[in-house]
Amino acid sequence: NEIYLNGAFVAPEQAMISVMDRGFLFGDGVYEVIPAYAGRPLRAAEHLQRLENSLRGIGLQAPLSLPEWSNIFVRLLAAEPKMDQALYLQVTRGAAPTRDHRFPAQPAPTVMAMAKPMKARDRAVVEAGVAVVTRDDIRWLRCDIKSTSLLAAVLLRQSAQEAGAEEAILVRDGLALEGSTSNLFIVRDGQLMTPPKGPLLLAGITRDLVLELARAAKIPIQERDIAVEALRQADEVWISSSTREVMPVTQLDDKPLGSGRPGPLWRRVDALYQDFKA
Ligand code: PDD
Repeated sequence: NEIYLNGAFVAPEQAMISVMDRGFLFGDGVYEVIPAYAGRPLRAAEHLQRLENSLRGIGLQAPLSLPEWSNIFVRLLAAEPKMDQALYLQVTRGAAPTRDHRFPAQPAPTVMAMAKPMKARDRAVVEAGVAVVTRDDIRWLRCDIKSTSLLAAVLLRQSAQEAGAEEAILVRDGLALEGSTSNLFIVRDGQLMTPPKGPLLLAGITRDLVLELARAAKIPIQERDIAVEALRQADEVWISSSTREVMPVTQLDDKPLGSGRPGPLWRRVDALYQDFKA
């Protein structure tokens, strides 16, 4: 389990950064999580494109080219070629001589990547569906940047955990936008709906893939705002993320959702997703 750090592959105990790193001091960095099935990253190009968008969003140059990233992935995944793993990539604005909010004149980014085992979804959990709770969205207004400044997400996810829920669905101005670490879908009268991309949510790679698969299967899709009331009255609710895939939600704020069981459209789209990743 080597870690890639600034051009070298090192043992975890050797993977060290300065306390002056702006990732540590300010959360001044961006990241990606890429699922890899038996050594094959899923949608790597799309994840790397989003990393570039995040870097642009914080005014950092891309430190590595796509082929350079690919080579790193191959090496990190090779240690466990048969396992499903999640690649984690992080780029910060690096260390500067003093703690100063302003960008250093010549930033030397810290670039890190590692792989960790990704356990298959528990069939019993998937078949039961997960519980979610709604929470006020206390995050900033640039949720489209996949930033390592995750304090709000950390507090929200912990609050869900303490409420016995898998995820917190975040609500701003009466609209349900996404989960603290996932995107949101609802089904109403056979229509699949998800909030449109914009600065208030992360453009999930899994979200895009779900829409692509649904479109190919001629499932009607609407990218539109979802009011909390519409969420509560939905026939089906799903959350999606690279590590969770597409998860059915069967409980919302301690009340059963829809039929209280994973719905038929989820079953269809999940089957498409499982086929696609295989
Ligand atoms: N989270 N929205 C938020 C706020 C997220 O943090 C994530 C992913 C998603 C789903 O994006 P994707 O389908 O590209 O994984 C949506 C990752 C997995 C994490 O923070 O660990």
